[in-house]
Amino acid sequence: MCGIVGYIGPRNTLGILLNGLATLEYRGYDSAGVSFIQDGKLELIKKKGYVKELRQAVAEAGFTLDDKHTNRISSGIGHTRWATHGAPSDENSHPHMSMNGKLCVVHNGIIENYAELRSFLKKKGYKFASETDTEVAAQLIEYYYRLYDCTDINAAVRRALKDIVGSYALCVLCVDTPDRLICAKKDNPIVVGIGKGENFIASDVTAMIEYTKDVVFLEDNCVLTMTKDRIEITDVYGEPVEYKVSTVEWDADSVQKGGYAHFMMKEMHEEPKIFEATVEPRIQDGHIHLEHIHISKEFLEDLRNINIVACGTAYHAGCVGKYLIEKLCRIPVVCGVASEFIYSDPIIDEHTLTLVISQSGETLDTRNAMKKAKELGSYTLAIVNVIGSTIAREADDVLYTAAGPEISVASTKAYTAQLGCLYLIALKFAHTIGKISDEEYVHYQQELLAMPDKLAKILEKQKEIQRFASEHFNVESTFFIGRGLDYYLSMETSLKLKEISYIHSEAYAGGELKHGTIALIEEGTLVVSPITQDELVGKMESNIKEVATRGATILAIIPERLKGVKFSCNEKFIIPDSDELMAPILAVLPCQLFAYYMAVYKGCDVDKPRNLAKSVTVE
Ligand code: AGP
Repeated sequence: MCGIVGYIGPRNTLGILLNGLATLEYRGYDSAGVSFIQDGKLELIKKKGYVKELRQAVAEAGFTLDDKHTNRISSGIGHTRWATHGAPSDENSHPHMSMNGKLCVVHNGIIENYAELRSFLKKKGYKFASETDTEVAAQLIEYYYRLYDCTDINAAVRRALKDIVGSYALCVLCVDTPDRLICAKKDNPIVVGIGKGENFIASDVTAMIEYTKDVVFLEDNCVLTMTKDRIEITDVYGEPVEYKVSTVEWDADSVQKGGYAHFMMKEMHEEPKIFEATVEPRIQDGHIHLEHIHISKEFLEDLRNINIVACGTAYHAGCVGKYLIEKLCRIPVVCGVASEFIYSDPIIDEHTLTLVISQSGETLDTRNAMKKAKELGSYTLAIVNVIGSTIAREADDVLYTAAGPEISVASTKAYTAQLGCLYLIALKFAHTIGKISDEEYVHYQQELLAMPDKLAKILEKQKEIQRFASEHFNVESTFFIGRGLDYYLSMETSLKLKEISYIHSEAYAGGELKHGTIALIEEGTLVVSPITQDELVGKMESNIKEVATRGATILAIIPERLKGVKFSCNEKFIIPDSDELMAPILAVLPCQLFAYYMAVYKGCDVDKPRNLAKSVTVE
């Protein structure tokens, strides 16, 4: 949603803040700002636009980023924004300074009762310079700070939190206490980076991984006081709270582009490696080991159903998971978008297993859906990429994807890794309850182990996709049509195309198009059709013939074994053969590449698409 950073220590504060914001830009990038204390003065520089424009504004304001000057800066905070209240503008960007200039605040989340608080503060004489909910927090904290005779900023923050309703990751810098930052967390992530004679805070580890790998994930309703040498964590009443220091395994270059034009291309090229990292360690001696997760035969046999909740790309992975579990385990599965599930009346209870899928582990819709499932008695197993994230910590159990940090807003490698976990789960469960034979069990394991090389072979042919995109990127709209697993794949790749190229796109079940939507097909309409399921080849051939006869231009994604089949398509992209059940792992990659190149040729900002953010921590 937004990215926040903070630093106290002897290093180049402005450099650390700006570099940190640059790594967090995928969380929101319509405006950015920094606030810091230099020579006892509270400075604030913020503006609409990317972090690189903020960097320029900092230099133009006469603050240099080199070491010899910045040791006059004692502490600082920064923010990169995805607008919720108030359009992107200089005034609405964070940090927000309180009216009397005592403090600055950065915030990720939503203050739901901001209007009520705003009118209360106006009656107390406060004036507002922005339309944001965050400025209300800044003024409210200062109001209490003054009520406490400007003696205790920590107490003022804690008192303000009692009035605030909503979600927040807040960080406060007060001119009277230049040696410390105060942070508060509820429903939005704050990670504390523990250094030697320096400390960091950020929305996620990518902003500090260059400096420290020792981190503390703040829990909900906690308040942090951080100086360069120590951290103190309490609850909102000031009572000390236990915390654990974890060590992250990611390395610094995993948050750099590594020579690729975009993070998205780098991350697609990582798919062979991360699929192997997610799957291979969990297959040993002909068996699948889901680490510490012990779901017994009795538990599975007692299940009435399995429920899958997620959002966006993770939801599309869940749809593939539904297909796999129903086909292999013969257990009924309901897969729904989290935001709908929360407000539905689902038929789930202690005889339901809920799979919760989330790359970031912070998506509020998904987190709230998990909370609902737990309240209804369901056991929750999360599939998450970010270690220590909120969903990972709050689920009954977690199976991590090993995708590494995914920086590009459009999810690619994380989706592939989520599929890896879902195949492992479906196969493990099916074999546990005797629904697949030992031979099938071993066969599918070998199929999974063969995926990385096959993914690499697809990447070697990416120029074929690039050429096709170069010929078609000016289309008004694109249809993705498929059946069964290929329909779920079509849903995912339609989203990919929309979110990075802004080309309107729809995914349709191949057999459904003729029931109305085919009216939209005309000369030159672009259609992409994955056809990987043998028993559906004939039906899909009819469906693409229907659109071909109406003038559509069709790209078919097909396995090697079908390349001799005469399809009514204009182009074919051949993927390596595999058991057709495994096809989604392979077929998604050319579709991701297609979306990428369409966006590149359209001149879009592939890694930071308009209106989006990597992790959506509002409902
Ligand atoms: C994926 O390309 C999108 N950026 C978005 O749909 C994303 O998958 C969704 O917001 C869920 O995020 P999560 O996996 O971090 O929960």
